[in-house]
Amino acid sequence: MLKLDKICVSFRSERQDKIFGHTKQQILFDVSVEVKKGTCLGILGESGSGKSTMGRVLCGLLKPDSGNVLINDIPVYASKSGRRELQNKLSIVFQDYTTSANPRFRVRDILREGLYVRQRKERMRLDQEKEINRLLELVGLSSDFAERFPHELSGGQLQRVCIARAIACNPEIILFDEAISSLDAHTQVQIMDLLLELKEKLSLTYIFITHDLTSITYLCDDVLFLYQGHVTEHLSVKRINETKDTYAKKLLESIVVFETEEAV
Ligand SMILES: Nc1ncnc2c1ncn2[C@@H]1O[C@H](COP(=O)(O)OP(=O)(O)O)[C@@H](O)[C@H]1O
Ligand SMILES: [Mg+2]
Repeated sequence: MLKLDKICVSFRSERQDKIFGHTKQQILFDVSVEVKKGTCLGILGESGSGKSTMGRVLCGLLKPDSGNVLINDIPVYASKSGRRELQNKLSIVFQDYTTSANPRFRVRDILREGLYVRQRKERMRLDQEKEINRLLELVGLSSDFAERFPHELSGGQLQRVCIARAIACNPEIILFDEAISSLDAHTQVQIMDLLLELKEKLSLTYIFITHDLTSITYLCDDVLFLYQGHVTEHLSVKRINETKDTYAKKLLESIVVFETEEAV
């Protein structure tokens, strides 16, 4: 459904060489992956490995130097229709929910933004009140949350609102970039349970970017390891123990150590 084909991305580095002009720093090297409908693909890598850059390429925000992004076989960056197709089908939830929600907007207005997108796309009028209540219920919040401002919510509640906004436009795919990373462990599990439930209910496809292996094993079907801009491995989560990737092995070992320490 969504496909990356040999994506390369580089940024101009800040240091300017007076003789040769700008130097370029390559961030992604020949990254290819296919996201299958109804699955959850995890993208795992340490900080700075290029995960968010890959996410921006995937959601149409960053044109790669070379390679193709295809949605249902339509190229995203080479055609207007491809970009529109992607905008209609994909929603994004970021890590920093405190800045991704306008502090002066009430929850109802935050959700309305998503509903407008859906109205435009489906060319129909929606009963806003009813839809806002339906969305809040879907993410496990009562309807009186609609009147609150972001600062009147806990981190977990605010992230639920951001998830509600993402599903408001009726997407088929949602990209999460470290969406639960700054929540405490208990809230993380609650949000992951919510994500699993929504995925079933709304037949969604997920792309889940994180540096945390535990959430990958909880949520994802497949995992892609990114190391310094290279895909070092792509395998099903069930077979994660068989990984040959040194970084993944290290992560797995750290989890085992952590568990035994707790048991003591
Ligand atoms: N707009 C940009 N301009 C220059 N360098 C960037 C830009 N965005 C990201 N980078 C660099 O690309 C590398 C990968 O960043 P990023 O994709 O955010 O990694 P991750 O999300 O895995 O932590 C980092 O070294 C970062 O400094
Ligand atoms: Mg990032």
